Amino acid sequence: MRPIIIAANWKMNTTPADAGELARTIAARTHEASVERVICPPFVCLATVGEALAGTGVAVGAQDVHHEAAGAYTGDISAAMLAGLATWVIVGHSERRRDHAETDARVSAKLGRAIEAGLRPILCIGEQLADRDRGADAAIAVVDGQLRGAVGPHDPAALVGAGLVIAYEPVWAIGTGRNARGSDAAAMADAIRGGLRDLGWDVAADGLPILYGGSVTAANIGEFLAEPSIDGALVGGASLKPDEMAGIVARAALTANARRAETPVG
Ligand code: 13P
Repeated sequence: MRPIIIAANWKMNTTPADAGELARTIAARTHEASVERVICPPFVCLATVGEALAGTGVAVGAQDVHHEAAGAYTGDISAAMLAGLATWVIVGHSERRRDHAETDARVSAKLGRAIEAGLRPILCIGEQLADRDRGADAAIAVVDGQLRGAVGPHDPAALVGAGLVIAYEPVWAIGTGRNARGSDAAAMADAIRGGLRDLGWDVAADGLPILYGGSVTAANIGEFLAEPSIDGALVGGASLKPDEMAGIVARAALTANARRAETPVG
């Protein structure tokens, strides 16, 4: 059975002065043993957030990692630097693809660095509005291309071992208040698992957690979790609001418990 995961992407928000308090508040208000919780603060807040979350069961993730192991890359952060600070890492977020010209090949190299360092990767993929406007098949083709570019070069067993999670984040739904339909997100999740099967994942594709991201709130999370193909959310703006996170994780716990009850034992 796949876990239910709620991951918070704080993006370029919070400072070392206030991040610990926010993390502590969110941890206290989302105490649900059946839901895996992750908070991804900015790099400079990782240490503070890690201290605040010690013993809470909430994991810490970085928002990016460099594609090389070390070297002359001013201002960048390597996987080795994250040791002791983060256990998860987001790779390929659309804002990094947009602002830092990250290609699928780059994202694939980042995945490799995450695997080597024992970081659990959340790979983000998703189509642009123009792709979606051309219809569901066009959107699926774009996302499938991103999947093949990033995941294709890696041994499936290595990615399974690293605990890969995929976040389907349609770019037009990020920060716009216009979320995708649950049924469209589920169709994309099915297509992603189909793509992985083509890449040689075989039955491991069924075990891969797929999250939805894009204007997720406490009010709409239920639409996504009602889809058996969707295993949680990568939350941006709402993840900075404890009330929203409390609602999102409470709803996720209902799904986690319901799916557990449905899973035959033995
Ligand atoms: P919003 O929830 O603010 O739309 O952001 C989604 C996202 O990009 C998470 O990585």
